[in-house]
Amino acid sequence: MNCKQALLALVLAGGALSLQAQHRPTPAAKPKAKTAADPALTASITRGAVVYKNVCITCHQADGGGVPNMNPPLIKTQYVLGDKARLAHIVLAGLAEPIEIDGEDYKQHMPAQAYLTDQQVADVLTYVRNNFGNKASAVQVAEVKAVRATLK
Ligand code: HEC
Repeated sequence: MNCKQALLALVLAGGALSLQAQHRPTPAAKPKAKTAADPALTASITRGAVVYKNVCITCHQADGGGVPNMNPPLIKTQYVLGDKARLAHIVLAGLAEPIEIDGEDYKQHMPAQAYLTDQQVADVLTYVRNNFGNKASAVQVAEVKAVRATLK
């Protein structure tokens, strides 16, 4: 490589680098608009997916389909899409009452996951409410906190 070629290679490499830098997302710089790409919502869903994989997946499965007659599905159920306080209560206090979902009976107990932080509960429920074909509003940390306060 002669001197000119080396210089050209450097310039090209530099250009590629700055292009890469431009393509890196800068969430902080984005406007806080309530659009489909709401960065706060996206971040919560991303964190919630990790909690789901660590905690809920063993029972409710990767596709949220659950295990028939053992662990109920999390797909468009009234619990998942309905009242957020009741939903947070299920995660913080567990559930031990027979329920019926899509014509199937479930009577195993769900153990409380109260060791999760308010943020983790909010994130995992926001993830569940926006995954598995579900579409519902985010669960806020304050909403989880309020439910936890009633359990003490
Ligand atoms: C050890 C297994 C187990 C784990 C772990 C578990 N669940 Fe459950 N879950 C159950 C069972 C069993 C029920 C039904 C309980 C009943 O009928 O009283 C249930 C019920 C539910 C329900 C209400 C019914 C429905 O299907 O909509 C929701 C919502 C729910 N779980 C969400 C979660 C989330 C979110 C996590 C993780 C933070 C989680 N569960 C972790 C076993 C589990």
